[in-house]
Amino acid sequence: MLGNTFGRIFRITAVGESYGIGKGSGLAVIIDGVPPGLALTDALIQEELDKRRPGVGKLNSPRLETDQCSIFAGIGQDNVTTGAPVGIIIYNVDTQDLHVDQYRQYKDLCRPGHATYCFYKKYGRHQDWCGAGRASGRETAARVAGGAVAKHILAKEGIDLISYTIQCMDIKAKEMTFAEAKKNYRKNEINCPDLEAAEKMEKRVLEIKDQGETAGGVLELRINGVPAGLGEPVFDKLSSLLGHALLSIGAIKGIEFGAGFNVGNMLGSECNDEFCEKDGSIGFKTNNAGGLLGGISNGDEIVVRLAVKPTPTISVTQDSVNMPKMQIEKLEPITRRDPTLLGRIYSVVEAMTAITLVDALMMARGYDNVCRIENTWREI
Ligand SMILES: Cc1cc2nc3c(=O)[nH]c(=O)nc-3n(C[C@H](O)[C@H](O)[C@H](O)COP(=O)(O)O)c2cc1C
Repeated sequence: MLGNTFGRIFRITAVGESYGIGKGSGLAVIIDGVPPGLALTDALIQEELDKRRPGVGKLNSPRLETDQCSIFAGIGQDNVTTGAPVGIIIYNVDTQDLHVDQYRQYKDLCRPGHATYCFYKKYGRHQDWCGAGRASGRETAARVAGGAVAKHILAKEGIDLISYTIQCMDIKAKEMTFAEAKKNYRKNEINCPDLEAAEKMEKRVLEIKDQGETAGGVLELRINGVPAGLGEPVFDKLSSLLGHALLSIGAIKGIEFGAGFNVGNMLGSECNDEFCEKDGSIGFKTNNAGGLLGGISNGDEIVVRLAVKPTPTISVTQDSVNMPKMQIEKLEPITRRDPTLLGRIYSVVEAMTAITLVDALMMARGYDNVCRIENTWREI
């Protein structure tokens, strides 16, 4: 399997499976590029992991993973990073035989909408059939642990980011500013800052859950405090790096920046964000660009929206494939799942965004420093 490392200077390598029914059972992340002198504790990482943790409410999977993390490398005395790679481990604890047996019973049948069919085609009979292996949402706990370190670095840079639900099925939240959304951030299970809409969304998800179904939705991501100039103009646009990071999360099916797909219905004069004076400097009257022009941050808030598909595992009988026989058979999955991914997946979105931003900052500053050295040399 390839592609378990993300980032160029600030880089995470993530390992681990849903159940890991072989010898080991856990997830780990190795983070390269962590600066020395950063205060880092298990508790700080845990705070982020607890946002993603299953088994804590009626809207998420009943799988009882405590997601207790332990930093096992890269910190010295007084819990301060040494500059060495940071390693964090999270053991899987809820891997009871009952659930493993359920997966074993259905291991030849793929779950429609899940990655099992493609895994079988790609890895053959050795693919991990238990809980979808590395195609499981469980994999994302390692990303969240890595993202917690990145967020810690960003906080020192004055960069703040949040992701939250703005739509679940046909129920939409009202538009909000960053400050308004932050005020009601994580105030309910579905993490929708419009409290009235959140109530309706949660009710709808529970109705859908009772039918053995699952619900889709839309997340918003807002990033505050990114200085103008981050991102490279051609292949490494900040928008394309964020696209890579966010579309690598299972179940994220669409991404838009600023006005996004609405640009298809706009005139140039409506779409262009006119300049104005703001707080004693240059700003924009509107933010249809979503804070990015030419793939480079323009100093305004970065605004991204993400489509989240309904959890593929459902309790409704569907046509599936018996993979070794390659014949169509019926499947009614009985395994545990989230009735909607909205109440957990935002934590992965925040983590991947933070990792991308720290990496982009390190790339930019590395380049700037080399340029400065060259200029100095030329001047001499
Ligand atoms: C945090 C998180 C939790 C998830 N939980 C489940 C789950 O309980 N059941 C399920 O079928 N899919 C779950 N998924 C979605 C699958 O991992 C994903 O749909 C699958 O790998 C197929 O990939 P695709 O939807 O991107 O095509 C979860 C994803 C994330 C990010």
